[in-house]
Amino acid sequence: MSATASAPGKVILFGEHAVVYGQPAIAVPVTQVQATATVEPAPAGSGLTIVASELRTSISLSKAPQDDPLAAAARLTLDHLSTDVPDATLIIRSTIPIASGLGSGAAVSTALIHALADFLGSPLETAEVSALVFEVEKIHHGTPSGIDNTVVAYQQPVYFVRDNPVERLTVGAPFTLLIGDTGVPSPTRQAVERVRQAWEHSPARYDALFDQVGDVANQARRAIETGRVDELGPLMDQNHELLIEMGVSSAKLDDLVEAARFGGAMGAKLSGAGQGGNVVVLVEDQYVEEVEDALREAGAVRVVCTRVTTT
Ligand code: MEV
Repeated sequence: MSATASAPGKVILFGEHAVVYGQPAIAVPVTQVQATATVEPAPAGSGLTIVASELRTSISLSKAPQDDPLAAAARLTLDHLSTDVPDATLIIRSTIPIASGLGSGAAVSTALIHALADFLGSPLETAEVSALVFEVEKIHHGTPSGIDNTVVAYQQPVYFVRDNPVERLTVGAPFTLLIGDTGVPSPTRQAVERVRQAWEHSPARYDALFDQVGDVANQARRAIETGRVDELGPLMDQNHELLIEMGVSSAKLDDLVEAARFGGAMGAKLSGAGQGGNVVVLVEDQYVEEVEDALREAGAVRVVCTRVTTT
């Protein structure tokens, strides 16, 4: 019997980078983009073949290099279940742009691990999947905090502190976000490495920036939980300024942030590792179209609209 599983993209609302250093961060799933994995039986003796439709690649698990993230996700799942390699074809499809900060890697791994475990008749708990995806994320970018695998695997808004139990966030009043893509890849590994070097060079300055981001994230948590959406915009603006000071913004990201604010947004910031990738914009429902137009005019190559609620 074949098995299929899907996982959403994600966007970080508060706390990227500082979260690597133990500060809290807030992230929400973005269900408008999805990764899907389907596992189908294959003839006896054929082993496991992984087909990534969008990447136009097809690899046999037995020949895939150790650091191939798709093969790593499959191997980790088989090890976890103490199962032999099945005769099957695993097909990955995704509408999540790669390297844009929307969690494409985490979503592909999550869908793959769920679908493979289901196919083998051993469905996994969310926490198990999240832990396995975290192992794959280490291949993608070295020293991940764990926020990406957590929000994508749990598919819920989360308040996340590294090495602490997951806290699902209750959303007091739903709100709308626009996510605007610069079209420039956001290299998570390099951006995280650059911040690490800067922190090693000026630890006091960077620790102070991380602390301020943590304060902003905690204020945002209270505002989200109590439905005080109007407080979130200025907090996003503050978080963006702190990310500029950390050195992870870019002229293009700043242009999109400015354009969104000028177009009527309540607040805006870069989201994810930075240098490229996305901005996340808080917008009142009646201004969605204006702000979306403003983002496109300022050069956004893609704009996704998502509504944040507790599911
Ligand atoms: C990447 O989505 C978020 C970063 O904070 C890195 C991490 O948390 O692992 C930049």
